[in-house]
Amino acid sequence: MKVAVIGASGQLGSDLVKAFGEDAIPLTRRDLDVTDAASLNILKELEPEVIINTAAYVRVDDAEVEVEKAFRVNAIGAFNVAKVCNEINAVNVYISTDYVFDGAKGEPYEEDDVPNPINVYGLSKYTGELFTRNFSFKKKTLPKKYYVIRSSSLYGKAGSSGKGGNFVEFMIQKAKNGEEIKVVKDQFMSPTYTKDVAVMLKRFLAITPEFGFYHIANEGYCNWYDFTKEIFNVLGWDAKIQITPIKSSELKKLARRPIFSVLKNNKLDDLGLRMRDWKEALRDYLIEKGWMRGRKARG
Ligand SMILES: NC(=O)c1ccc[n+]([C@@H]2O[C@H](COP(=O)([O-])OP(=O)(O)OC[C@H]3O[C@@H](n4cnc5c(N)ncnc54)[C@H](OP(=O)(O)O)[C@@H]3O)[C@@H](O)[C@H]2O)c1
Repeated sequence: MKVAVIGASGQLGSDLVKAFGEDAIPLTRRDLDVTDAASLNILKELEPEVIINTAAYVRVDDAEVEVEKAFRVNAIGAFNVAKVCNEINAVNVYISTDYVFDGAKGEPYEEDDVPNPINVYGLSKYTGELFTRNFSFKKKTLPKKYYVIRSSSLYGKAGSSGKGGNFVEFMIQKAKNGEEIKVVKDQFMSPTYTKDVAVMLKRFLAITPEFGFYHIANEGYCNWYDFTKEIFNVLGWDAKIQITPIKSSELKKLARRPIFSVLKNNKLDDLGLRMRDWKEALRDYLIEKGWMRGRKARG
């Protein structure tokens, strides 16, 4: 199965390329730009059976002012990819986010819960989801060949290309620099290791489940303060590092964020596929990044 990975140099994209190995066709922004429909013609020559679109404008606060840019990549880009998928009859896999939800539910979100984004980034990704769902068909009589895969609070070895790193590394750097560490305690999510998403997506696609929406996030959840505490706890630095819990309102960020955007992997579980707990994944990540020694858990 030939699998084209768009955004191949990104945090999730690079792990997908590793997970799919010889089957992967890595495509970086130099190979194609999802906002430029003509540049996607390269996919017609490559003829992959599956196209995984990880390309995204991911800077949540900047998106509030660069609205057009965010929509061009996250929404129009998704439309352009859907059109190419139809032409070459490829399965369209769009990577989306927990930020399509408003957080008001107060308990984990299921795949069929109705999105209601509260920031521009989330709205642009939700529009990308709809373009993927409504335009991924070859003929109206044939099934739409798409998966919308939502994940949450990603960290991975490569670090987010768009954000210039990931949360775990930002916290470790602050600790090493002796900076004050203040972290919000009123936003809950499922921290998720990109390697786990990539490995799971490979297993998932191999069984060709019913097309539609799925959640793939590490199991369990926490707030960002507890996530940070766990990073230092695993590293054995917890006695030395002071972390101050704060409220989201104290950060004065441009974009509002959902207070509870935990994803429930219901449909994945129904397939007999289970993601591991976020704490186990974090431990593995810290070992793989070389921050500590230890035996890696099964990933
Ligand atoms: N990060 C999170 O916490 C998080 C949470 C939930 C869901 N997600 C979703 O997960 C996916 C992957 O995120 P990530 O953390 O891996 O982000 P990332 O590291 O910033 O990767 C995004 C990739 O998209 C590429 N890209 C950006 N604009 C493009 C364009 N116009 N055409 C082609 N490629 C383009 C970037 O290329 P360059 O390197 O050249 O800029 C980069 O390689 C995204 O869809 C994101 O919305 C992320």
